[in-house]
Amino acid sequence: MHKALTSVFDHGFLYGDGVYETLRVYKGVVFKFDEHIERLFRSASMIRINISRPPREIKDAVYKTLKANNHKEAYVRINVTRGVGDIGLDPELCPKPTFVVISKPFKALPKSCYEKGVKVAIVKVRRNFKGALDPMIKSLNFLNNIIAYIEAKAQGAYEAIMLNYKGYIAEGTTSNIFFLKNNTLCTPDLGVGVLDGITRNIILDIADELGIKSKEGKFTPEDIYNADEVFVSNTTKEIVPVTMIDDVKIGSRTGKITKMLSKAYKKKVAEHIRQGKVRSGK
Ligand code: PDD
Repeated sequence: MHKALTSVFDHGFLYGDGVYETLRVYKGVVFKFDEHIERLFRSASMIRINISRPPREIKDAVYKTLKANNHKEAYVRINVTRGVGDIGLDPELCPKPTFVVISKPFKALPKSCYEKGVKVAIVKVRRNFKGALDPMIKSLNFLNNIIAYIEAKAQGAYEAIMLNYKGYIAEGTTSNIFFLKNNTLCTPDLGVGVLDGITRNIILDIADELGIKSKEGKFTPEDIYNADEVFVSNTTKEIVPVTMIDDVKIGSRTGKITKMLSKAYKKKVAEHIRQGKVRSGK
């Protein structure tokens, strides 16, 4: 952890000028690698960073890192910054992007969070305005999310839920949000200004497969206060049930449909591992 060093003139350090991906490794197999890489390239191109390495090479670098660290259940982070260059905003100061792969052992949330659910807080800090810094860019600049998280933590919440500039529910600091109302699975549409979460997409697919109606749209805090079930999702924590929003109780335990979706998600992971092992001949 203390040996890999980066220059103080790296624009990722100086300006948060870069993009990243967080991936989850199960039993030595990286989950949804292609989807994450596609988003990494998309984020990079949205801030005009040209990643010259082909995806195959990035995959090799990830597996090499995992092997060197002997990590099987792991968290992997791929960082791509503008690169090292003199102080100044001009991208031409940085001729070559910095590319870093980090792996660390996976640390799961306590089981009780999945059984009893967590509390989230709808915070005052608004999600970045799409027209200023599009939340679709998985940017290294996380200040918006950090100040939102600080606000939520002060209220004893596990996650902050941010609204967009118009007051519609957007997303968590590191998660997308879903709720169930009248057996319909609802989540903010991408137009609200959220990250197009990979877990979010998997969940929408699963809902489809299970015959659960889903709706992407514009929702207000009232909608989630009155929901039957609520959960947040991301790559590392998967589906985390929410049973309290601010001071409003949403059921007392993990909801029935949330449980169904979690189970189906785990099945998809197991299938992915099986296929990954077959492909690599392990
Ligand atoms: N965060 N929204 C935000 C702002 C996020 O940072 C993330 C992911 C998500 C969920 O995306 P996905 O399902 O693709 O993980 C939504 C990762 C886990 C992180 O920052 O480490």
